[in-house]
Amino acid sequence: MTRAPVTIFACFSIFYLVLTQYCRHANYRDPTSKFFDPARAYERKYTVKRIQEADAFIQSAALLPTEPALSAHAPVMCIGVATIETLANKVLGYKKTDIAHVKEWEDGGWYRNRSIFDYTYLLNDCYATAARYIAMIEDDTLAVEGWYPRALLALAHVEKQMEYRAGMQWVFLRLFYAEDLFG
Ligand SMILES: *[C@@H]1O[C@H](CO)[C@@H](O)[C@H](O)[C@H]1NC(C)=O
Repeated sequence: MTRAPVTIFACFSIFYLVLTQYCRHANYRDPTSKFFDPARAYERKYTVKRIQEADAFIQSAALLPTEPALSAHAPVMCIGVATIETLANKVLGYKKTDIAHVKEWEDGGWYRNRSIFDYTYLLNDCYATAARYIAMIEDDTLAVEGWYPRALLALAHVEKQMEYRAGMQWVFLRLFYAEDLFG
């Protein structure tokens, strides 16, 4: 009577296979998972759609009759984008004395120095606007529609949580997370 163990083994094998397939399907994009599959994880399904949306947005922005009026109040959020070209309200350039530094860093491959310098520049300028929040965004970021109200909701949530943590302060909220930034 060896039937029962064989049946149990067969059932277990089928269950195991189904479970493995499920995990492969559910976790192939998760870099922390054993089932992470780089060949499929980087398929650009999501990105292609976001690029189309961004293109449509930029085209519709070009149809606006005038530049939107700037408010007299301090902005809720100052968005700093470290890039060469920008469509923002204000475009920052380097001072003459800084250009020599930037060139030295670029020629010498001191990219980290250059980034730190750029971010310091942007942070200082955003700080000067007296905005309540400062968002630092990479120039290759594709934002999903509605990211701004969602970010504000998340910030409100953080501030609510902080009410229960007397004596503690929060510094930043990470909006976009790429796995190569782990650690
Ligand atoms: C880059 O920054 C590091 C650390 O602050 C510094 O030691 C180094 O001299 C800098 N390099 C240049 C070329 O300025």
